Amino acid sequence: MPEDTVGVGFIGAGDVSVLHAEAVRRCPRARLVGLWNRTPERAIQRAKEFGCQRFETPEQLVNHPEIDAVFVLTNLETHLQYTLLALEAGKHVLVEKPVGCNVDEILRMKEAAEKAGKICMPGHNYIYEAGMARTKELVTEGKLGRIVSCYVMYNIHHPEEVAARYPGVIRQIMTHHSYILLYLVGRPRRLVAMKATLHYEKITQEDLAMVQLEMEDGSLAHFCASFAADDHTADPWTVLVKVLGTAGGTRYSYRDWVELRPGLVHSQTYTAYQGSITNEVRHFIDVCIRQGGQPLSTLDDAVVAQKMIEAAEASIEQGRIVDVQ
Ligand SMILES: NC(=O)c1ccc[n+]([C@@H]2O[C@H](COP(=O)([O-])OP(=O)(O)OC[C@H]3O[C@@H](n4cnc5c(N)ncnc54)[C@H](O)[C@@H]3O)[C@@H](O)[C@H]2O)c1
Repeated sequence: MPEDTVGVGFIGAGDVSVLHAEAVRRCPRARLVGLWNRTPERAIQRAKEFGCQRFETPEQLVNHPEIDAVFVLTNLETHLQYTLLALEAGKHVLVEKPVGCNVDEILRMKEAAEKAGKICMPGHNYIYEAGMARTKELVTEGKLGRIVSCYVMYNIHHPEEVAARYPGVIRQIMTHHSYILLYLVGRPRRLVAMKATLHYEKITQEDLAMVQLEMEDGSLAHFCASFAADDHTADPWTVLVKVLGTAGGTRYSYRDWVELRPGLVHSQTYTAYQGSITNEVRHFIDVCIRQGGQPLSTLDDAVVAQKMIEAAEASIEQGRIVDVQ
């Protein structure tokens, strides 16, 4: 391996690891050294698929001298454990979203990263898209005038057996909405949320949620996250982000690039899904690790995103508008 190539190890080899393996493959200065997965059958299959080693334990993986960076790709509940393990072994970490189960877990990751002097980057992939960067630039430079509204919509059907492995759409999907809003237009002051469970037979997680938010500057935002139905209408809200201001507006849509073959659990392939993860991994490897730069969305942003999620849950539970602390 050339000296300036960053060696990568995966902890967890579920669905999302397929996207990360392709992203690493597309990153000239990175190489996937190996992976560990809790179930060995899956680990053997994926190691073969990705052309990398299989480690017997996560400890062996994080201590391997050729691994400089660890991707934590397991279920939400184990992110803290594996992130701390990797940071304490002196490795940089990219941890999938939602970063932690609560604010305290994210703060513990931040503290461990500072102590180790390593990057711990949230897997906030959607914002690493050129269209998002352009929107942020226009907003920051005031070229859209006064921002009046921001919409973040997600409507992608997920079968029950896939949704069963995740929390409901509030944590699983609206975490994306939260860091996107924060990155593009800033923090909300308060919000009100509702949820529904419409197409599952066995599980109780919500498959639909909507949130209205009042921003610190007085503008409003709206989130929709749905696993309940696809949107195949003429102007689909599959993944759609709109920012409207008094002097202009912007739109980002997954449906600008569609390949007619199933994409993991999606009915067709939305090229931007893989593309955003590839861009995120390139930023992690090239900007953060090789050049000493920072993630576009940090652990501090993950804390605010988590507060938004928890405020939405509190709003639903209490049936009222809740402040985002
Ligand atoms: N950024 C994105 O767009 C995106 C998309 C999909 C998933 N994700 C995130 O990636 C993570 C993994 O999701 P996935 O879709 O690959 O799920 P998955 O169910 O396909 O895989 C989950 C992985 O976690 C492992 N795991 C489960 N319980 C474990 C435990 N107790 N100890 C150790 N390992 C355990 C499984 O073996 C498997 O490797 C989740 O945090 C999810 O939110 C992000």
